[in-house]
This record gives sequence, C-alpha cells and structure tokens, in this order.
Amino acid sequence: MNQLSGKHIVLGLSGGVAAFKSAELCRRLIKAGATVQVVMTESAQQFMTPVTMQALSGRPVYLSQWDTREPNNMPHINLSREADAIVIAPCSADFIARLVQGRADELLSLLCLARPIERVPLLLAPAMNREMWAHPATQRNLRQVQADGAQVLGVANGDQACGETGDGRMLEAAEIEEELQRFFAPKLLRGQQVLVTAGPTFEAIDPVRGITNLSSGKMGFAIAQAASAAGAEVTLVAGPVHLPTPRGVRRINVRSAQDMHDAVMQQAPAATIFIATAAVADWRPANAAEHKIKKDGSGQVPQLAFVENPDILAGVARLPRAQSGELYCVGFAAESQDLLANADAKRRRKQVPLLVGNIGPATFGQDDNALLLVDEHGHRELPRASKQALAQQLVQEIAARLKGGAGA
Ligand code: C5P
Repeated sequence: MNQLSGKHIVLGLSGGVAAFKSAELCRRLIKAGATVQVVMTESAQQFMTPVTMQALSGRPVYLSQWDTREPNNMPHINLSREADAIVIAPCSADFIARLVQGRADELLSLLCLARPIERVPLLLAPAMNREMWAHPATQRNLRQVQADGAQVLGVANGDQACGETGDGRMLEAAEIEEELQRFFAPKLLRGQQVLVTAGPTFEAIDPVRGITNLSSGKMGFAIAQAASAAGAEVTLVAGPVHLPTPRGVRRINVRSAQDMHDAVMQQAPAATIFIATAAVADWRPANAAEHKIKKDGSGQVPQLAFVENPDILAGVARLPRAQSGELYCVGFAAESQDLLANADAKRRRKQVPLLVGNIGPATFGQDDNALLLVDEHGHRELPRASKQALAQQLVQEIAARLKGGAGA
C-alpha cells in the first residue's frame, strides 16, 4: 500500500543550506521502496557532496549535461524519461527563476525542461530566506512555474539559517515524503467532504480529574490521512491525543463527548462521508465540580452520578441527508468478543451502511490492527496490517461502495 514502492524518483538538489535535509529525504525514499537518481547543480555541491548522495542513493550522481557515461551523451533525455517524478529539494529562488525562463544551460534545469510534461510530474520543495520568499519576483515566479505544470509543496515557517524567522524553510524530509505519498495515491475520493472523529474523549470530574480511555487516535488519524491523500477535503475532530495533524487535513480539537458532538453536528451539513472512529465516553459525571474535590480525612469517598452522552454516530446517521444516502456513515465497534455478531447488531442499531469491527484490547495504542467490515451484503476481513495500510484499504472499500460497487 506504499505509494512510493517501485517508483523511480529523480531527486534534484539546487543550492541551499537545506540540502542537509535532502540526504535524509533520499534515505527515506529508498526505505519506502523507491529508486533515487540524484542530480545536483554546481551550487548544490557547495552544501552537500555528491559522494554523500551517491552513498545514500547507491547510484553515481549526475552533475553535468556533458556526462559521457550515457552512451548517447544525452543525460537530460534519459534521466527525465526514466522518472516517475522529478523532485527538486532544495529548490532555490534562483532555480525557480530558471524554470520560469526555461533555462537549459546546466543539467538539472535542462532535464526539467526536457521532461515529458504530461507524464513526468515536477515537484518543488522551495528553500530560501523569508525576504527572498516574500519578494514579488519570487511570488510571481511561483505562480508562473505552477501555471507551467509544476507542483509547489509549500514552505515551513520558523527559524532560518540566516538567523531570521519566517516563511521559506524547506519542509522536513518526512513532510516531503508524505507529500509524495499523497501525490501518488489514487484520487478515489476526489470531490468528497470527509468528516472523521478520532481519539478518546475526556469527561471532567473536577478541574484536574476526569474519565477517559486508552484510545490513541492512530486509526482515525490514519483514516484522515488516507482520505486526504485520496483527494477528499478532510475535517478531523480529534479528542485529546498527541498526534501530528496529517498534511492537508483540517483539525478541530475537542475534549468531551459533548464538545465532539457539537463540533460534528456543526460540520455534518457539509460532509458527504462521516467516519466515526472516536472512542466516545458513554457516560459523563452528572455534575463536574467547579473546584478540585478534596480529601477531608474522614475516609468518605465521593459519590459520582453519571448521565449518558449523546451518541454522535447515531445522531448523524439519523440526519435526513444520511437517511437519503447523501451522507455516507461509517461506524467503528471495539469489541472484546463475538466481533461479527456484535458489529452487525451495532450496524443495525445505529442505522449505518458500514460498520467496522475490531478487537478493542488488540488495537488500542497499537500501530497495527485487523478489521472486519460489515454491511448489508455480508462481511469482509482486512487482515492484520499497519493502521496506515488498513486506512488505505478502508478508503478503497468506501469509494467502491459510493460508486455502487459490491458490498462486503
Ligand atoms: O456503541 P458503541 O460506543 O460501541 O459504538 C461505537 C461507534 O459509535 C463508533 O463508531 C463510535 O465512534 C460511535 N459513537 C459515537 N458517540 C458515542 C458512542 C459511540 O459516535 N457516544
């Protein structure tokens, strides 16, 4: 399910101090199963040696359009035609300007110009000082280079090597890899608005105590990431978890089940798919104390009374847009036994077309999981795999059902 497996990437380095991140990027791409051909401009060699990049990529680095290793002496043609994508990281302000002008006086810009534009995508990870980034000339060039078919991966904001702070930092290697994974993912959910709940909820007892559960949020975050990579607009309503927001995903942080319910109900009118992975607390303390409940030395323990939380999934599934099929609802069931019977019963009770069962103790906090998909046609097992791989499979299953394909 790894989109980079078997891909051939031409990794171009132009001059920039961020070139040190390209060494890690090269390693990550190779670890993900891609082959990497590095091409460096003369300025790039001021920051990183070709020796390092050769050692990491396992291939001699190309530095010149006059490289005689190619039998036809046309490295710009051969390298660009072999590539599944050309990634320029770091992409300097000067290199962007060169692309805009269609310059061809050194190998890297030459091979970008020579690439078959319909077949070989060009992705740019800019890196420069914040003033250079903000300059009208750079911004004009960025618009033009995108109009000419390149994809700009964006920049980060933060401390810069020059000592200034602002926009223009190159994305981290992991972020560029994630962008490439997204780029190559089939766009099965293009045009869909996906709303996902994830993580536990926290039900306050007093200002410092509360009731929560062991849900890590990993499955829901992986689903949000996979749906976004599949081309959907994704809103992730997350309970209290310490997970980074997947790229391209809009995140709304909530704490209690009631907060999660309110956020979901506000977002639901715009959604076309709702995936409820959150482990929502079924009950909350009836009255959260305004101040910390103190031990008074008498040995008396506090008596907690509970009230039931709203069932978010059932509430959404009852909305007229869900009943009419305009909003496709997917529920999760964490069970400890009788997965199929319990998941099917839950599907009927909550009136959702698709219910995904998993064994609670075997998934909470883990990096992998196994899923059982239950719909009106039957059930299908997705065997144990990483939560990322399962999330991609679930996205495929949902996309197939939206197209009216066969059920489970
Ligand atoms: O009833 P149970 O909690 O087992 O149902 C699990 C499914 O319902 C999950 O999809 C969960 O996100 C959702 N749910 C919800 N609101 C609740 C309880 C569960 O959305 N209050």
